[in-house]
Amino acid sequence: MRNKELVREALEARKQSYCPYSGFAVGAALLCGDGTVFRGCNIENAAYPATNCAERTAMFKAVSEGNTDFRAIAIVGGPKGKEPKDFCAPCGVCRQVMAEFCSRDFQVLMLGCEGIQRTASLGELLPYAFSLEK
Ligand code: THU
Repeated sequence: MRNKELVREALEARKQSYCPYSGFAVGAALLCGDGTVFRGCNIENAAYPATNCAERTAMFKAVSEGNTDFRAIAIVGGPKGKEPKDFCAPCGVCRQVMAEFCSRDFQVLMLGCEGIQRTASLGELLPYAFSLEK
């Protein structure tokens, strides 16, 4: 799948964002090795820490469906109801969840309204990631 299509999936995912508290809508599209794409959006809660980010929604959906072979993720976020201007980078918790399942060359596409604004590998976003010796 091309980056452009993955971006389109993330934009679709963003439409489902439930963000009445922050007003910041995020969508993510996670590409698996077999070509499957899992969409995710942020899901907020009146008890703020119970909020789930778009990236983790997508990853948890995938893992719960038996898929842990991840290749790339597209992320798009910004004020709800508006075209996102700046690129949206994954938060630290989401980076750590990525590190659980993804290799250092996992591709993270971070988007603004003019297409892909930044691309980075997980190794670049989270060097020295914590992991248990196996
Ligand atoms: N958010 C995400 O969905 N992904 C990120 O990586 C950063 C933040 C969400 C969480 C919350 O619903 C809103 O953006 C504002 O922090």
